[in-house]
Amino acid sequence: MGDTARICVDGKTFELPIVEGTEGERAIDIRKLRSETGLITLDSGYANTGSCRSAIPFIDGDQGILRYRGIPIEELAEKSNFLEVAYLLLSGHQPNREQFDYFLKSITHHTMIHEDFKRFFGALPKDAHPMAACSAAIGALSTFYPDSLDPRDERHIEISVHRLIAKTTTIAAYAYKHSVGQPFMYPRNDLSYVGNLLYMMFGNPCESYEVDPVIEKAIDLLLILHADHEQNCSASTVRLVGSSRVNLFAAISAGINALWGPSHGGANQEVIHMLQAIADQGMTGREFVERAKRGDPGARLMGFGHRVYKNFDPRSKIIKKACFDVLEKLGVHSRLLEIAVELEEIALKDDYFVERRLYPNVDFYSGVIYSAIGTPPTMFTALFAIGRLPGWIAQWLEMHQDPDFKIGRPRQIYTGPPITSYVPLEDR
Ligand code: SDX
Repeated sequence: MGDTARICVDGKTFELPIVEGTEGERAIDIRKLRSETGLITLDSGYANTGSCRSAIPFIDGDQGILRYRGIPIEELAEKSNFLEVAYLLLSGHQPNREQFDYFLKSITHHTMIHEDFKRFFGALPKDAHPMAACSAAIGALSTFYPDSLDPRDERHIEISVHRLIAKTTTIAAYAYKHSVGQPFMYPRNDLSYVGNLLYMMFGNPCESYEVDPVIEKAIDLLLILHADHEQNCSASTVRLVGSSRVNLFAAISAGINALWGPSHGGANQEVIHMLQAIADQGMTGREFVERAKRGDPGARLMGFGHRVYKNFDPRSKIIKKACFDVLEKLGVHSRLLEIAVELEEIALKDDYFVERRLYPNVDFYSGVIYSAIGTPPTMFTALFAIGRLPGWIAQWLEMHQDPDFKIGRPRQIYTGPPITSYVPLEDR
């Protein structure tokens, strides 16, 4: 028998197996804890709890390591492209030329949405947040494919995966077009995945649209960096919702809603609002950091801190460098980037942040690039969702293929009143 953990409860000793991962991570396997001891564990926010085994991402928060299927994020950022990374996450291996061409062709030819579906957006107010539109639309998308939603049918899964990766870009672009009162742009199969996304967002019927290769490459890089990240809030949501065996579209819709929160993917939008407020109010970085340390309302240093990374977020380092590269190539000066750099320099030397091991995360610099290419802050998290989609789907697939698969149903510790009686209305 391998290593075990012993616990002593009411004078009795119990042994629980310790499991070990590829990189030496260890966990106490508590699957028999309640049946053997009558006890459950309590761990608000699941900071100490592993929900599953996964072979997809690997993060070492102390070393600032992130790998997708074993490949370091730095290598993928430099050498790969988003659809190739999506294939890697989904299938577990890098595609050969034939496999990639098949995948690319299928994604390219599924970007169009049903003509009737365009009316969906007309039901929304002009200022509808794109994340509300996207989560609702992705959930509704399943109604067009009632014959291919079975999560246990290989063919249904493949076509649903391709439809989602393809159509989510179209839906996000249409949510944006609706918000600016411009006509929807039909997808163009002659453009790359990212080029088509940019065309559908920023093109218009009155003039031709040339995809800027600098912007195309920058967005492709950001999508790679956002593609998966262990059991974060939204990935855990996709797994939990998917564990009820609901269709993939519904599980992804739930993940989009979880990502929207300002503590999670919604932080990229809040960072830009924070940087803009500092600029508009003529505040110094030090003044804002002091407010953040005091916990003043609305003064949280958004884009800083992480549940897992306690050294640095490798994605933030890559995005920060990309900010300078892209803005230089575009000839754009960004006051917001200057403020972000100043905030980072101050915070990384300040005991408050150092003691709490708070560093810039993936959201701290990403909005600077999105802003520089003309994306409104409300679209930032929708772009995060497009990037995270293959990771969510890969985790959903892995869950369904897990021999230990079962519906997720945590327990609780009850803290309400002891048994009490119903009081008739006239006696209250
Ligand atoms: C993402 O999980 C993932 O992998 C997520 C993600 C992904 O790719 O999926 O990486 C994407 O969501 C990145 C995080 C984006 N969110 C933000 O940038 C929002 C700002 N950051 C925080 O709210 C916070 O850091 C979290 C939510 C990210 C992490 O929260 P934790 O792990 O629960 O830590 P905590 O809130 O308990 O904070 C620990 C301490 C607290 O101080 P004390 O109560 O101990 O005195 O650090 C403080 C917090 O008040 N703190 C901050 C802070 N973040 C934490 N203080 C000021 N500014 C901050 N940003």
